[in-house]
Amino acid sequence: MPIGIHDLSFATGHYVLEHAELARAYGVDIDKFHLGIGQEAMSVLAADEDIVTMAAAAAQPIVDRHGTGDIRTVLLATETAVDQAKSAGVYVHSLLGLPAATRVVELKQACYGATAALQFAAALVAREPSQRVLVIATDVARYDLESPGESTQGAAAVAMLVAADPAILRVESPSGLFTADIMDFWRPNYRSTALVDGRTSITAYLQAVEGAWKDYGEQGGRAIDEFSAFCYHQPFTKMAHKAHRHLAEFASLADTPNELHTAVLPTTLYNRVIGNSYTASLYLGLAALLDHRTDLDGRPLAMFSYGSGSVAEFFGATVVPGHREHLRTAGNRSAVNRRTPIDFAGYRALHEQTLPTDGRDHELPVEGSGPFRLLGLSGHKRIYQARAHRS
Ligand code: CAA
Repeated sequence: MPIGIHDLSFATGHYVLEHAELARAYGVDIDKFHLGIGQEAMSVLAADEDIVTMAAAAAQPIVDRHGTGDIRTVLLATETAVDQAKSAGVYVHSLLGLPAATRVVELKQACYGATAALQFAAALVAREPSQRVLVIATDVARYDLESPGESTQGAAAVAMLVAADPAILRVESPSGLFTADIMDFWRPNYRSTALVDGRTSITAYLQAVEGAWKDYGEQGGRAIDEFSAFCYHQPFTKMAHKAHRHLAEFASLADTPNELHTAVLPTTLYNRVIGNSYTASLYLGLAALLDHRTDLDGRPLAMFSYGSGSVAEFFGATVVPGHREHLRTAGNRSAVNRRTPIDFAGYRALHEQTLPTDGRDHELPVEGSGPFRLLGLSGHKRIYQARAHRS
């Protein structure tokens, strides 16, 4: 019985900061961003948005289309957790009006968490094919101002309904796995911005490509020339091209440089203007690929998930014939295009904004335009509301 992605929807922040603004402010040649790292713009959250509001906004269209009845599990992956104990998924469960008879849990392993969630979801569905699992990847990539990582920031949430006999993508077995204990990127509990050793992180990523591919082969996976496209985790879009060139050389794929570029290019079209979204990034890559290529019915894709620290997984997936009828291409494009431009000063002010930690009442300005908002905090509790129901 095939199991995989039955529906996929994403949401991103209210604002967009063009890299041209960053280049002007810091006196950097714009080609470093456009060509060097392959980024043109980044999503920036409004003051009343966070991983919960984005996650609920991403999942709402799925619930609207399929109802809540068959969803018995919500797996929310993030590395931007808002609480050390309570799963952000419980807030999302409430905002979406899901039934009480649901299990909800949060998963973490840097940017890899959503792939773990997808695989765990597939296993749950294999055990009980009538149930569906809502998998949500939601993150805000945040680095220190004026650090090398700043230009790779971004934010997004991707929601996926995992089901038997899926309409969009069949997830295949086996997977190739790789774990190495390495400090390439991390965020201690007391920090709101990530720490990163940039060059080490790129090397670690490429080693993980090799390790996961090697295991994939040993587990009996497909030959490399069977794949019609390659989706990689995209901390910045140039990384996907670097990864694919590296894999092609390691796995002796005889494609020309142009063919290598073309196999990855469509997967980068959303990430290029949204920025890094950590757990969501690989699945934004998948959404972009499916929205921009029309020849994928029945064809196998390669998926590579990387989470610093590090854990990686390489797996194959087959695009379901007729899948295009189930895509949300117009909604996806609108999520990207309707963002409000923000200038450098506005972006910096939002970056420096912090929420109180002393438990006092704190109301947030009405700023974002998504269907849900963070109203504020009171007694150390976050308060969310559907925007339409706001009194
Ligand atoms: N025109 C064209 N290209 C230019 C240029 C110009 N004017 N100026 C620079 N470049 C090129 C450089 O040659 C370089 O290309 P190569 O990597 O192909 O050599 C590229 O632009 C970047 O230049 P630098 O290395 O000088 O840039 P930097 O010091 O600002 O750092 C970075 C780049 C290390 C990626 C930094 O942005 C960073 O630390 N990012 C966060 C960490 C990260 O994303 N790591 C990726 C792997 S880890 C992961 O995947 C998990 C995750 O999500 C974080």
